[in-house]
Amino acid sequence: MRTQVGIVGAGPAGLMLSHLLHRHGIESVVLESRSRDHVEHRVRAGVLEQGSVDLLCRTGVGERLRREGLRHEGIELRFAGESHRVPMTELTGRAITVYGQQEVVKDLIAARLAAGGTIHFDAEVLRLAGLNSAEPVVHFRRDGRDEELRCDFVVGCDGFHGVSRGAVPEGVLTSYERTYPFAWLGVLAAAAPAVEELIYANHERGFALYSMRSPEISRLYLQVAPDEDITRWPDERIWAELRARLETVPGWSLNEGPILEKSITPMRSFVVEPMQWERLFLAGDAVHIVPPTGAKGMNLALADVALLGDAFAAWYDRADAELLTNYSATALRRVWRAQHFSWWMTSMLHRLAGDDPYEAKLQTATLRYVATSRGYATSLAENYVGLPEV
Ligand code: FAD
Ligand code: DHB
Repeated sequence: MRTQVGIVGAGPAGLMLSHLLHRHGIESVVLESRSRDHVEHRVRAGVLEQGSVDLLCRTGVGERLRREGLRHEGIELRFAGESHRVPMTELTGRAITVYGQQEVVKDLIAARLAAGGTIHFDAEVLRLAGLNSAEPVVHFRRDGRDEELRCDFVVGCDGFHGVSRGAVPEGVLTSYERTYPFAWLGVLAAAAPAVEELIYANHERGFALYSMRSPEISRLYLQVAPDEDITRWPDERIWAELRARLETVPGWSLNEGPILEKSITPMRSFVVEPMQWERLFLAGDAVHIVPPTGAKGMNLALADVALLGDAFAAWYDRADAELLTNYSATALRRVWRAQHFSWWMTSMLHRLAGDDPYEAKLQTATLRYVATSRGYATSLAENYVGLPEV
């Protein structure tokens, strides 16, 4: 099997890259270890920056997003018994759109298949070879058989636990990492959202987030211990904890309903530099992770491959290597802005280890400053909706 660009992973990064390459007349093959059904139903992110929405719409995969996405012009911060709205659109002229990651994935898969694109599901990449030659080889296993994909370039879009990053020889990459002493328990519930905008709550029992997917479905998160066991969280305990952390404003209450899905996500900040070695390019969670508090992970994945789409187009159209050469440095500017913002949001909103009272006072002071200073609120808002140029 041969193609121009071999793509490992059919998450938002790999699928979007394949779509963008196709629009430039460049062939690609996507190899995905899981089934189509699995990737289309994996519940994860939900917030699209304005730039991500623009990218999806501009490239012809935004039709359902325009129809079903929920445009939000503000978020609410709850802390110390107070509630404050950050009017993002008033402050920045931009907005976010709530639309599930698995819906983006479904739309991209449908577009690739309709255009005759090749995505092999249930095809696990085992290793990459010849990355410093003119014809790298992706070794994968499908239906119990070992196969090879030969290509001009390989792009590793295989997430944090993928194999691509590990194909770079030792000593080339530098990693920067921070782990947090907590995780998120996320639930999807068949309950009409009680609010129109997201609520980020700092509470002495821990952080809570109220989000949604549609007028009928709520998406909620709770800060829990990093080693938390999900079996210790029956539905009633989850609702009781959500009530305790979110019902802090007089007269406001949650809507409850059957819990459709629940899972625990560890929190991590992680960057590997550079994002390229020879003919291997890395994009999305394969090369950087942010804690989800800033809602940046999927947006960064899309921003990386938007750069790669243009860079491969310049290479194949005009043999111009400049954008490919600069890919890592260009992408890392946005990556580090998002790293800082995600770390800052996380630090401001969670109960950190040890319940340090000094830290809690600093958090309240920071939240009050966001609530009262147009300048500080604008800083939060412009990062949250996504900076066009970084
Ligand atoms: P992935 O989506 O992880 O895709 C990688 C793909 O590679 C997977 O399909 C995997 O099966 C495949 N793969 C792995 N190894 C192999 C192999 N060896 N061979 C073949 N295939 C392989 N981000 C936001 O922007 N906004 C949010 O609101 C947000 N909230 C989040 C909430 C939660 C609870 C979680 C868990 C994440 C959240 N994120 C958010 C982060 C976001 O989901 C990720 O950043 C995003 O999935 C990254 O996309 P990706 O394509 O790089 O990687
Ligand atoms: C959602 C996820 C996030 O990480 C976040 O910061 C906001 C919303 C969501 O899944 O809706």
